[in-house]
Amino acid sequence: PAPGWSIDADVVVVGSGVAGLTAALRCEAAGLTTVVVTKARLDDGSTRWAQGGIAAALGEGDTPEQHLDDTLVAGAGLCDEEAVRILVTEGPDAVRRLIATGAHFDESGDGGLELTREGGHHRRRIAHAGGDATGAEISRALVEAVRARGLRTIENALVLDLLTDAEGRTAGVTLHVMGEGQHDGVGAVHAPAVVLATGGMGQVYSATTNPAVSTGDGVALALRAGAEVSDLEFVQFHPTVLFLGPGAEGQQPLVSEAVRGEGAHLVDADGVRFMQGQHELAELAPRDIVAKGILRRMREQDAEHMYLDARHFGAEMWEHRFPTILAACRAHGIDPVTEPVPVAPAAHYASGGVRTDSQGRTTVPGLYACGEVACTGVHGANRLASNSLLEGLVYAERIAADIARSAHTRPARVPQPLPTTERPAHPLLPPEARFTIQRIMTRGAGVLRSEASLSEAAQRLHHLHAEARDALDENGKTAEPGVDTWEATNLLCVARVLVAAARRREETRGCHWREDRPEPDDTVWRRHIVVRLNPDRT
Ligand code: SIN
Repeated sequence: PAPGWSIDADVVVVGSGVAGLTAALRCEAAGLTTVVVTKARLDDGSTRWAQGGIAAALGEGDTPEQHLDDTLVAGAGLCDEEAVRILVTEGPDAVRRLIATGAHFDESGDGGLELTREGGHHRRRIAHAGGDATGAEISRALVEAVRARGLRTIENALVLDLLTDAEGRTAGVTLHVMGEGQHDGVGAVHAPAVVLATGGMGQVYSATTNPAVSTGDGVALALRAGAEVSDLEFVQFHPTVLFLGPGAEGQQPLVSEAVRGEGAHLVDADGVRFMQGQHELAELAPRDIVAKGILRRMREQDAEHMYLDARHFGAEMWEHRFPTILAACRAHGIDPVTEPVPVAPAAHYASGGVRTDSQGRTTVPGLYACGEVACTGVHGANRLASNSLLEGLVYAERIAADIARSAHTRPARVPQPLPTTERPAHPLLPPEARFTIQRIMTRGAGVLRSEASLSEAAQRLHHLHAEARDALDENGKTAEPGVDTWEATNLLCVARVLVAAARRREETRGCHWREDRPEPDDTVWRRHIVVRLNPDRT
């Protein structure tokens, strides 16, 4: 087998969205040798696609306490209150530091930040940029800062597995890199601290707002490394995703909650508003409630979608406030200025992930997780709108501080063997398995689940796994290692754990909606489902 390559660093950050780049910039500022590795280009993750904005108590009369209350209500009894308190109290200053790093947010006439509303917020507290292009601006500013500071970055680098030393402490990661010159092929970054900031797993479903790179790589790596993962059953379905037809697959255009925040109405096939009377906030109820309201009315009317009506905004407001959404709708032949926009729920956000404490530490020493890949406890059973960019920022800063604090107490680096291109110890799936997994999950573990649908999904996923494992055991055959085979393999890994958690949670709570158990059950289920796999059996 061909020998790999290796690099030594103090910290390796895996992923380059708001969480990864903030952590990297803060680690570098603390004097730590930091390497950022990312699966595609630096700006290819989910951050770039965020529309509505970033929530923080920045407005006149708003307080972290009110932000805390809204977050806890959305989280349906499962938020970790201390984690939320950290988020909302450190949030406003973290946003100010992001602005100091170079991100430009939209301003109101008096020079302050222009703030909007989204579902579950009782106040205007969402800062935005470029109207509805907040993530793109944050990504631009952070990528520019990383380049200006000369941080070492490796693009097209798919993370494979965690390296650990004899005591089980983190010692780096292995990577499969393509097209990056001296670092091509399988190699490693050796570092005593690894920050997972790999984003979400929306691609586990057929239709999602997530980009193609969101394949659960960080959660799968953490599971293989024996770290604890929590709350995977709480997949958030965004209520208003542009409906492009019943068979639409892959990344779908989002229609931000901020459109409802500015006064758009949800209407059914007869043009009737249906969220009024379902919740005091009507269209601005927390996201799970609006998604359920839409689904219910779709069923009642045997319709494939509902409509978002914002014709009353007029052309000027659409162009100024929501240019990205306007362009996406028009690109698909819909003009929101003159007609209601067809929308339906689609997979959007993993509220759960790799379990961390308040410093972003996972249960494996030296392994941190941050952003969508993490489960810090702030989202509970349903994330409050626009808390995700904020979580990435706040907890990235905490992680960098913790790594800097503990750097001097770490044992000296132990030399690690170079990775090789030998066949992996676990079976890899063929690339086309990705679509099979997506269809199984959409059918069996989507917005609506039941024991019957979940057990069928579990069986079909088990079958996929068994086929690949038997081929490896019997004749050493496995799919060729590469980005698409690793992605399919990671998707299967997270899908199986997600389905198992969804079966176990025999109740309906937040964005976990069991048709056969339609009520929350506080006597049993006001707790988390935490999973840790035996690394030899993944
Ligand atoms: C949106 O703009 O509706 C998405 C915001 C979020 O996911 O928090």
